[in-house]
Amino acid sequence: MTFPAQRLRRLRRTSALRRLAAETTLSVDDLVAPLFVREDISQPVPVTSMPGVVQHTTRTLRAEACRLVALGVPGVMVFGVPAHKDAEGSGAWDPAGVVGRGLAELRDEVGDELVVMADLCLDEFTDHGHCGVLASDGTVDNDATLERYGRVAVMQAAAGADVVAPSGMMDGQVAAIRAALDAEGFSQVAILAYAAKYASAAYGPFRHAVAVNLTGDRHAYQQDPRNRREAVDEVRLDIAEGADMVMVKPAMTSLDVIATLRPEVNVPLAAYHVSGEYSMIKAAAERGWVDGPAMALEHLTVLKRAGVNFVVTYFALEVAEALT
Ligand code: PBG
Repeated sequence: MTFPAQRLRRLRRTSALRRLAAETTLSVDDLVAPLFVREDISQPVPVTSMPGVVQHTTRTLRAEACRLVALGVPGVMVFGVPAHKDAEGSGAWDPAGVVGRGLAELRDEVGDELVVMADLCLDEFTDHGHCGVLASDGTVDNDATLERYGRVAVMQAAAGADVVAPSGMMDGQVAAIRAALDAEGFSQVAILAYAAKYASAAYGPFRHAVAVNLTGDRHAYQQDPRNRREAVDEVRLDIAEGADMVMVKPAMTSLDVIATLRPEVNVPLAAYHVSGEYSMIKAAAERGWVDGPAMALEHLTVLKRAGVNFVVTYFALEVAEALT
């Protein structure tokens, strides 16, 4: 048999041919920027484990949102860093707390030009660092936590969030939050469920960024990385409970999970390219070991190839600048 010369290389010859033949495109519309807002600071504080990322004041939060709007980035995900924590994480539902104020400032600044999402969890606000309240035996109490999540959702919606994003991996959290929102007249507020969220070493830099005091781990509520089929159950349940969009996390170690989920779900599917994934690229790039911007683009593009609609990523601003 004669083999056709250049059968596969023919369409790779020029940049224009490659553009024409590309199966996947990454656009600014695919990016959501996580933003940290910290209480009681007058200047932004760099997160040392995440070069280029800062904890914002409410003033710099507004400025950052404006830069993102100007670049065409469609969404942000807000995380709060409170000055005080307690056993219950009560700062999470305090309208005068850092998230309530941050969301209100953002809404005031950007109107409807940006989708304002709020991470919905207790770990930034609890003194023990777990994502829920603790039972007397020290385990995370699922149902007692759901009641608190409902309060957090209502506060975030009232402060101006378009989307609330529960990340605590409690069973039934989406149903509890939907019911709480609807009961208070926030039926237009959407839920992006962190549906398949694995217990991962890649969240390390984030825990510095929000000053989480966790001793121990989250293996009793986040998913075991050995399991893929279980992610399908998680996602189906969340959609049945009312999730409008679902997210997988971390990103690069879940490409198989994303590819499995894509034909299963009709709602928008997202990936969270997490802190450790960001910091690994930044650290290697600082040493000159990898081309950082190229690596970032490659990560985000293959997530699109695997099937996501959008990516929550600390590279959002940098990549948006490169794409425009
Ligand atoms: C929980 C939450 C975490 C992240 C997002 N939401 C931390 C955790 O589960 O320990 C991690 C994000 C990242 O690593 O970038 N509030």
